[in-house]
Amino acid sequence: INTRAGLDLKALIRTIPDYPKPGVLFRDVTTLLANPAGLRASIDELIWPFLGAPLDHVAGIEARGFILGGAVAHELGRGFVPIRKKGKLPYATIGQDYELEYGVDTVEIHADAIGPGDKVLLVDDLVATGGTADAAIDLIRKSGGEVVAACFVIDLPDLGGAERLRRKGVTVHTLLAFE
Ligand code: PRP
Ligand code: ADE
Repeated sequence: INTRAGLDLKALIRTIPDYPKPGVLFRDVTTLLANPAGLRASIDELIWPFLGAPLDHVAGIEARGFILGGAVAHELGRGFVPIRKKGKLPYATIGQDYELEYGVDTVEIHADAIGPGDKVLLVDDLVATGGTADAAIDLIRKSGGEVVAACFVIDLPDLGGAERLRRKGVTVHTLLAFE
């Protein structure tokens, strides 16, 4: 998939077989982030649907969603709200459990980060099962916010995450798909 800048973003993603466990093809976004033209084109492609859209905050999911979300927030002229793994945020938090392949994990947001009716754009590097983003959306909604859209560089459509988020009524914007 070539960007308007004529760059093949997909070619900049490195694939690591059998990481973190046998059978997984890990789509490594660090090679894209390290490429200056790749990083710029990724941010440009993530933000274009939201240029001029009413938006109060950009929220990013730890850890790779912080890198992309910070740049998206800067480009859109909005502040950045971190959604973190449990126990990392210093002030009062709201939490949401979500299912991993084995067991559960929790994401948290500062209780005062999003006000009632605030419009939020959610950013992460990749959507697989959608479990992480689903929990992040629940956090934003529990905070009283409205999720304008969720955007990701990579979609793994076979795992159904983007569809899962659309079924929750969220607009999903992705740049690349891998099997
Ligand atoms: C990866 C990725 C997403 C999530 C997607 O993060 O950055 O946040 O998995 O998977 P899902 O759609 O099935 O929920 P990971 O859990 O590896 O955490 P990290 O970014 O802190 O390494
Ligand atoms: N998160 C969940 N599945 C992944 C994959 N295949 N590559 C990178 N990150 C992931």
